[in-house]
Amino acid sequence: MKILVTGGLGFIGSNFILHVLKKYPNFQIINIDAQLPGSNPENLKGLNRNKNYQYIKGNITNKKLIDKLVSRSDVVFNFAAESHVDRSINDPMPFIDSNIFGVYTILEAIRKHKKKLIQISTDEVFGSLKSGSANEKYSFNPSSPYAASKASAELLIQSYITTYDCDAIITRCTNNYGPRQDPEKLIPRVILFSLHNKKIPIYGTGKNIRDWIFVLDHCDAILKVFFRGKAGESYNISGLNELDNLKVVKMILKIMEKSQNFIYFTKDRPGHDFRYSLDSSKISRKLRWKPSYNFEAGLEYTVKWYLANKNWWKNISSESLNPTPWKNR
Ligand SMILES: NC(=O)c1ccc[n+]([C@@H]2O[C@H](COP(=O)([O-])OP(=O)(O)OC[C@H]3O[C@@H](n4cnc5c(N)ncnc54)[C@H](O)[C@@H]3O)[C@@H](O)[C@H]2O)c1
Repeated sequence: MKILVTGGLGFIGSNFILHVLKKYPNFQIINIDAQLPGSNPENLKGLNRNKNYQYIKGNITNKKLIDKLVSRSDVVFNFAAESHVDRSINDPMPFIDSNIFGVYTILEAIRKHKKKLIQISTDEVFGSLKSGSANEKYSFNPSSPYAASKASAELLIQSYITTYDCDAIITRCTNNYGPRQDPEKLIPRVILFSLHNKKIPIYGTGKNIRDWIFVLDHCDAILKVFFRGKAGESYNISGLNELDNLKVVKMILKIMEKSQNFIYFTKDRPGHDFRYSLDSSKISRKLRWKPSYNFEAGLEYTVKWYLANKNWWKNISSESLNPTPWKNR
């Protein structure tokens, strides 16, 4: 099996590559990543000598390169994306480029070479839900330029499935946590702020709800979809673990034995969705998948990973630890 992973130096992509090589050591993986925000070359440093792994620095919008790499692969797992909502508020352009134009470039190559695409999408395409959970047929209602770019990519893929009979499947997942996530994102940010005894900024009232899934549960679900999912369909992947941000921050402080007085509330970001929620009964019923990691244990494991891997984060720019990045960039 020859796999092309895009965005494999990022958080989920790097965990996915490590997971696949552990489970299927004979699979050959090519990782193309442009080293944009979210990437960290430290993520896969350990694979330098693995003969079944190759890294290519490149952009998914590079038509010639993508055409060549897709022609040599059996399947593309597209993780590559600008992924930080705050950055998309400040400047949507890179999101249009990577998340829409990049997907178009991959689709053209998939169509030409008749290969398979697994697109990694997000619960954010459905927007904020006051109650209930979105199933695969729920209508799109994206709030941020990030969410809109991911929804646009999904629509484009859907059109290639309908018009050109492309072999593609879309997965949508809730908030991931675990090792190797850029400290721009909530959980690693709180870990590093409290490690440095810095006050911890929380947007608004901290009551916004997210559903958290351990990254390896997500990777497992993606593999299930790849092996057993139906071409042309989409699958929601939920952590079945909805929590408000304040509760998550308090849990981290407790694990780190820090005072809750470190918390302070900052101006909310514009368009901040109140709650995301996915109905993932389809993947559980049809593919017999459900998350296996317990949140408390997964969070403790994640905190310990950051504490034990100072080399991984020591060179990360202090810009990542900006309290309100959407405002100040
Ligand atoms: N993190 C989450 O909680 C979450 C939840 C649901 C879905 N997703 C989706 O999963 C995917 C991966 O998310 P992540 O959290 O690992 O993101 P990340 O920001 O950690 O990593 C993204 C990677 O993509 C690369 N990249 C971006 N644009 C590129 C381009 N044009 N060409 C080549 N490489 C490019 C970056 O360099 C980076 O390494 C994204 O598509 C995201 O929308 C993430």
